[in-house]
Amino acid sequence: MAKITIDGKVFEIDPKRTIIEAARDNGIEIPHFCWHPKLSVSGNCRMCLVEVEKMPKLAIACATQVMDGMVVQTASPKVINAREAVMEFLLINHPLDCPICDEAGECKLQDYAYKFSIGASRFDEQKVHKPKRVELGPHVLLDVERCIMCSRCVRFCEEIAHKPQLTFTDRGTHVVLTTFPGEQLDNAYSMNTIDICPVGALTSREFRFKARVWEMSSTETVCPGCARGCNMYSWVRNNEVLRQTPRFNPDVNDYWMCDHGRLETFKHVNVANRIKSPMVRKNDQLVEISWDEAIAKAASEFKSFKKSEIAVIGSAYDTNEDNYLLQKFASEVLGTRHIDFVRHADESFQDAILRRADVTPNTLGAETVGVRPRENGMKFDAIIKSIKEGNIKAVFVVDDNIASDPKIADVLNRLELLVVNFSFENETTRLADILFPSATFAEKNGTFTNFSGRVQRIRPSVATLDQDRSLDGFAMSRLDKYGSQLDRWAKGAKRDARPTWKIVAGIASLMGAKYKYNTAEDVFTELAANVPAFKGMSYRKIGNRGLMLKQKESVSSPITA
Ligand code: SF4
Ligand code: FES
Repeated sequence: MAKITIDGKVFEIDPKRTIIEAARDNGIEIPHFCWHPKLSVSGNCRMCLVEVEKMPKLAIACATQVMDGMVVQTASPKVINAREAVMEFLLINHPLDCPICDEAGECKLQDYAYKFSIGASRFDEQKVHKPKRVELGPHVLLDVERCIMCSRCVRFCEEIAHKPQLTFTDRGTHVVLTTFPGEQLDNAYSMNTIDICPVGALTSREFRFKARVWEMSSTETVCPGCARGCNMYSWVRNNEVLRQTPRFNPDVNDYWMCDHGRLETFKHVNVANRIKSPMVRKNDQLVEISWDEAIAKAASEFKSFKKSEIAVIGSAYDTNEDNYLLQKFASEVLGTRHIDFVRHADESFQDAILRRADVTPNTLGAETVGVRPRENGMKFDAIIKSIKEGNIKAVFVVDDNIASDPKIADVLNRLELLVVNFSFENETTRLADILFPSATFAEKNGTFTNFSGRVQRIRPSVATLDQDRSLDGFAMSRLDKYGSQLDRWAKGAKRDARPTWKIVAGIASLMGAKYKYNTAEDVFTELAANVPAFKGMSYRKIGNRGLMLKQKESVSSPITA
């Protein structure tokens, strides 16, 4: 280890580390633009200049390795002077358009202008003007004037996305970021360039000009787009999700997420055809009824079937809590052995970076908590066959549009009772006899277990009427320092949707079970006590980075690394 002194404090540092890394590891901020912890060092912005004893000139902290006995000053008069000069040069041609820039409020250049510059310009001449709206690719637009040529985006494409699509042309003040001839910035991870761009040069076609960053709440949650479970922030204004951005977790996704997860996975939260109220079929029409009536109707209908005539289909889109209570209800209350869920794989989605072929967030969780046939029970395909043969007469399907396959829709048509909960109208909800509006991943608390066995928290970023009444989620968010800022949107909540576990608990209680859970956390506490792989876990212990399942013996499929 090398002993180095930074700003008068002595640290023992691995000699392979650079000064910027050593400082950061020990809570000392050295301002920087071009350096990024997961990209190669380019050393071009000069913002990280520091004074190193016995070195004739200031050194860039991002490209200078530590050495035993090194003495570093990060805020000496010489350093402050140099930083102010770097900022002055950067701002010569940078437009001062913060009031209309999408990056305002989360811009490194803006922050540093306040912290590290003199706050005035001596430049009276005309700034160099460059194109303001260049379409680099399907999702990313470039304002060339705002670019400070840090090359973070260029290096990201080469080193992380493995798609070298960006480069610089020209020299001096006329340098322009552009795509290679015949190329577009079009790769599955292209929008990460927007996050790492330290200025407002790169903006999202989908999000630009939609909201100022300070108007939104950001909730720490997990992407439901595939079995990786990338950690992310859900950004909400007026109770509507406007964007999703990656959240650092070195054990799952580092600083990145794919464009699909970022753009596609919240669309169903905002869709117009959300199920607005519980419904029941009358004269071949689905008509709205109250929650109490729908729950009572489901309970009395299930009672009219023999145990062997009922099947339950869980969901790899639902949380561990939802699936745990569903399988408990199925075997303890309905008494059926026929419990399963559908695996959704898309090999074309998988890559060697983050994306997994399993396009659901919780396959391993559903398996681990027990959504599988009991002894002599049937798997999904056998259940469908048995419906065809007239043996299974009543089915409860949660949060999976199994009737999107027309052959399965045909079979479901033969049922005497189909109880469905889902968040929006689809082929399965159209066949339902009793239909419950379910909360999406953005509207509930819970946990997903990713492909490697990491149990991670999801948190509500959007308020529903149910949360408004029960304080489920709000209580968490106030108590949990990692919680969301749902309270801000609670007053505007109109959507009437409940998580699966709550709908199941309601039906179970009317069928004689004593299911006394007030929050998803209550369900999780019981789950952690009963399912060995979750032993000792709690929401607090899972925290923000997740926890690995304890053991594999209760997992029916092997955990892959
Ligand atoms: Fe850096 Fe942003 Fe310019 Fe790319 S667009 S070089 S990330 S300032
Ligand atoms: Fe060191 Fe840019 S951060 S030169």
